[in-house]
Amino acid sequence: MTRILTVTPSQPEPQPIAEAATCLKGGGLVAFPTETVYGLGVSALDAAAVRRLFAAKGRPATDPLIVHVASARDIAPLVAGQVPEVEALAARFWPGPLTLVLPRSAIVPDEVTAGLDTVAIRVPAHPVAQALLRAAAMPVAAPSANLFSRPSPTRAAHVVEDLDGRIDLVLDGGPTQVGVESTVLDLTGDVPTVLRPGAVTLEMLRAVLPAVRARAHEGSDAGPQRSPGLLTRHYSPRAPLTLYEGSRDALLERLGRDAQASHAAGRRVGVLLADDDPFDAPGVIRPPLGPASDAAAMAARLYAALRELDAAGVDEIFARAPPATGGLGAAIVDRLRRAAAGRVVHCG
Ligand code: TXA
Ligand code: MG
Repeated sequence: MTRILTVTPSQPEPQPIAEAATCLKGGGLVAFPTETVYGLGVSALDAAAVRRLFAAKGRPATDPLIVHVASARDIAPLVAGQVPEVEALAARFWPGPLTLVLPRSAIVPDEVTAGLDTVAIRVPAHPVAQALLRAAAMPVAAPSANLFSRPSPTRAAHVVEDLDGRIDLVLDGGPTQVGVESTVLDLTGDVPTVLRPGAVTLEMLRAVLPAVRARAHEGSDAGPQRSPGLLTRHYSPRAPLTLYEGSRDALLERLGRDAQASHAAGRRVGVLLADDDPFDAPGVIRPPLGPASDAAAMAARLYAALRELDAAGVDEIFARAPPATGGLGAAIVDRLRRAAAGRVVHCG
């Protein structure tokens, strides 16, 4: 039985927070909102509980988890040695949607790091996540609260859809703000490297850390896995998705033609377009995503839109890349490329 407790996102009530903290302390699995997506939390120092979490999600044990703490002061016991960049990054971006990969200390179980000698840590900003971490008074390992390979949950209903009966508790704090997962920044190599783009952009990081670079082989499955969760096929809707990249007019023309041909052939078709993109095909399902000029709005709606298309039972999805101009544009393109798993059409 999964219990659902409603909390006020801006000012969470003490009672449900205390219940959720007690559940975590007892080794339970608790889904809670962060500013990015809902996380599925478990005591990060309880190896048996972490194994139950992997089982509940159907997640391969080779994919390491992010450890969440209430404040930058709480990372010391989890980290081996001093990493000089952390102080300035924490001062600028924590609490917030930035995860740092650091050398791990011996108290972090292998189950959390998938046996790596590094640990991913973040301080979430959402008031519910903050209240829960403070009440539990321990590090909480939390992947996104979805079944493995399903889109991350941005509402409590998404968590229930995937995990009802498999976890103990859901704190329902309404829809999350950012909508895509945190930026993951690896500080353990020679050069600080963004392994996963998010709301803290490369440009923002560069202001604090001029040497920072994006991961070289964006979304490639070839070669050794620096971060196993970064397999190309990861953020997937059930239906195959084709991504159209390039100049707006050329990609809309090509996408429109392909979507209509598929529809004419008798398939159920879904499209992911900006709300102001011209597109007229009766019978094609088009969830709202936000205007092309507002990447933050599109990111906030992206995973809900993918789930809506799945729920509508579409056979095929045609998606347009947002204009890749700074902000959350890069994160959206990254997630859509993974969902497309190689089906990318380059247009003029
Ligand atoms: O916004 C978020 O980050 C959300 C919320 C709940 O905090 N969490 C999240 O967790 O997206 P998850 O498990 O879905 O994604 C964690 C990512 C994976 O790509 C994983 O491979 C990477 O972080 N990661 C974790 N530990 C790592 C490590 N030691 N080295 C490199 N990558 C790591
Ligand atoms: Mg995930």
